[in-house]
Amino acid sequence: MMTGLQANHFNAGYPRKKIITDLSIPRLSRGEITVLLGPNGSGKSTLLRSLAGLNHATGELLLDGQDLMKQPFAQRAKSVVYLPQSLPAGVHLHVLESIVVAQRASGGSQTEKGEAEVMALLQQLGISHLALSYLDQLSGGQKQLVGLAQSLIRQPSLLLLDEPLSALDLNYQFHVMDLVRKETIKRNIITVVVVHDINIALHHADHVLMLQSGKLIADGKPDEVITPESLAQVYGVRGRIERCSQGRPQVLIDGLVEHPMS
Ligand SMILES: Nc1ncnc2c1ncn2[C@@H]1O[C@H](COP(=O)(O)OP(=O)(O)O)[C@@H](O)[C@H]1O
Ligand SMILES: [Mg+2]
Repeated sequence: MMTGLQANHFNAGYPRKKIITDLSIPRLSRGEITVLLGPNGSGKSTLLRSLAGLNHATGELLLDGQDLMKQPFAQRAKSVVYLPQSLPAGVHLHVLESIVVAQRASGGSQTEKGEAEVMALLQQLGISHLALSYLDQLSGGQKQLVGLAQSLIRQPSLLLLDEPLSALDLNYQFHVMDLVRKETIKRNIITVVVVHDINIALHHADHVLMLQSGKLIADGKPDEVITPESLAQVYGVRGRIERCSQGRPQVLIDGLVEHPMS
């Protein structure tokens, strides 16, 4: 059987506005991190929400050969988890409770084993000291880490993370990407992450999708997709990709592409 995620002629948007048009993704493999890149407003959040069944969409979306578009929402929600850019505010729940709720909602165990799993996850994320803090009293970055814990505990096959690093300091950005990679491999899941930092994509992604105005304009390995040409086309910047002293590719931005008309 063909495992992984495939999209064919996928369209998504809002009642009066098509955003994602005729998008086809040949394959995202299990055990791999895909970074979704694209400028503001290019449709990244719309695409992720649509993959999760949270936005209107048409087309075919195959997860291990099964069409998610044909599944009732409750069934689809068992295999697909979407972590939004910002968590809903004002929930007066303990961190620990909120993760246990997520665990039970997805049919997870209600036993001591289940609790041990939650505590182990908090430890891995470096937030076990926050277990008894209230969600509405956390910093933005702490909330993102809790959101990640809530997503992972639900044991999805397809994990969709919308800008999970935006409120994190440098140390945690690296830590979270490293953890997401390890969990993606260990759980053999398909992870799609929106990040803005091109260097994070170069270092941590197995696969990169580049979106522009709702269209997929590049799809492949990071160093195939992230090129001076695509950076100019999609972001309007003049960039170089050079090897650092340790041999890893780095993006350097020299300026903006000059438009003769402006
Ligand atoms: N609820 C909505 N109703 C109508 N249009 C929306 C809605 N949410 C987003 N859009 C529009 O969809 C386009 C893509 O937005 P979005 O998917 O949030 O982009 P990105 O995440 O790449 O910044 C934008 O033009 C935005 O204005
Ligand atoms: Mg977005």
